[in-house]
Amino acid sequence: MQIAVIGSGYVGLVTGTCFAQMGNRVTCVDSDEAKIRRLWHGDIPIYEPGLAAMIRSGSDAGDLSFTTDLAAALRGAEIAFIAVGTPMKEDGSADLQYVLAVAEEIGQKMSGDLIVVDKSTVPVGTADKVRETIRRQLDRRAAAGDTAAAAYRFDVASNPEFLKEGAAIADFMRPDRVVLGVNSPETGRVLSHLYEPFVRRDNALLLMDVRSAEMTKYAANAMLATRISFMNEISRLCEKVGADIGHVRAGIGSDRRIGTAFLFPGCGYGGSCFPKDVQALIHMMLEYDLPAPLLNAVEEVNRVQKEVLVEKVIERFGDSLVGRVFALWGLAFKPNTDDMRQAPSLVIVRRLIERGAAIRAFDPEAVEQAKIYFDDIPEGKISYVSNKYDALNGASALLLLTEWNVFRSPDFDEIKERLREPVIFDGRNQYVNLDLPSRGFDYCAIGSPMRRGMRD
Ligand SMILES: NC(=O)c1ccc[n+]([C@@H]2O[C@H](COP(=O)([O-])OP(=O)(O)OC[C@H]3O[C@@H](n4cnc5c(N)ncnc54)[C@H](O)[C@@H]3O)[C@@H](O)[C@H]2O)c1
Repeated sequence: MQIAVIGSGYVGLVTGTCFAQMGNRVTCVDSDEAKIRRLWHGDIPIYEPGLAAMIRSGSDAGDLSFTTDLAAALRGAEIAFIAVGTPMKEDGSADLQYVLAVAEEIGQKMSGDLIVVDKSTVPVGTADKVRETIRRQLDRRAAAGDTAAAAYRFDVASNPEFLKEGAAIADFMRPDRVVLGVNSPETGRVLSHLYEPFVRRDNALLLMDVRSAEMTKYAANAMLATRISFMNEISRLCEKVGADIGHVRAGIGSDRRIGTAFLFPGCGYGGSCFPKDVQALIHMMLEYDLPAPLLNAVEEVNRVQKEVLVEKVIERFGDSLVGRVFALWGLAFKPNTDDMRQAPSLVIVRRLIERGAAIRAFDPEAVEQAKIYFDDIPEGKISYVSNKYDALNGASALLLLTEWNVFRSPDFDEIKERLREPVIFDGRNQYVNLDLPSRGFDYCAIGSPMRRGMRD
């Protein structure tokens, strides 16, 4: 099939690349000229394992190309995916300006029959808005004498994306399920055919109406965010009553009705999706005069959780952190991505600096992104190193914020030697089973109080 994917960010690039891998002819479109120019030169604007090689092979095979020219991408295309951002507006609602701008442009530039698919995460009812927007543009063209435009048929479907950054290729190639929201059997048939190679292993292809598909994406993300906030809240009580959150997790996760996934406590969820999607869902409920006590609580627990590690630092070192340096391992909101959007590190770094501390940070991939987010922080208050151990020199403590593999089993003798004091705050509970206090470390994880190290 010939496909246009509009918006070449995380979702658009992965979607386009994976469809091309399955033998489709895909044109990825973006309005950002610099991004498209980089893609022409094989320079991939995001870090996502495996993506660069697949883009190269797709481009070499002639199945994958990049352009800023939407009209050219739509020429001959049977399907156009909309994969632009839907960021959060100040009131918490999803900002649809990019989606609707693309819809408008599709209406202005389409040159044949087309199935338009919303892949962006959009509030329920957006497909109708996209349909109306395209219709309006086609009517305008028809009124201006474009007789061909008057005859174009189009349909709008919803195909929300569930990929996880860091495992995006695997998620797309072998999805747990594909959700297709369609209002016509013919569109359902075409999209089912497109996705057939991706669901050969008994993974579900779920056909449903458009509104249910739109709702499914928000419900899925809200459910996952709820599990995280639930575990974070339980971890706080564990800390007070002397229970071990790790045992509790194993104890409840083995119940098949609960399951083990997404039950890890930590220093809060972040990223481009959970925070904005929970907020957008709350906003949708408000629009229908429905209270959203559970979703509001999920967000509030998460907001507080991003402060938990800082509170532990203050408990250990006192209110003023003037003159202290803290080593940070991990800046990205999760491993295997350079995405800093809503990352807990954004809160933690600023809180520590507000109290007078300086930060020395290491992240395998996110440093360049972090520099953009921390652009306003005064000189000397934050620095970045390219070797994880260099972050430790003379620091009062190590804070682990992202569970990258490179932090899994570090050389603790070296950590001890380099730190001014052997203190570790583990925001991802990576070292809970290592009995670090017996090796002389003061060790503090999520859901347990500081355990003092045995010193010689
Ligand atoms: N990132 C994820 O893990 C993820 C997962 C599932 C769903 N989603 C959803 O997918 C959507 C896209 O997310 P993303 O992370 O890929 O966003 P992104 O910000 O990485 O990429 C969006 C791209 O769209 C481009 N764009 C904006 N307006 C355009 C226009 N008029 N024409 C062409 N290109 C335009 C931007 O330049 C940008 O490159 C969002 O709704 C998001 O919620 C994201």
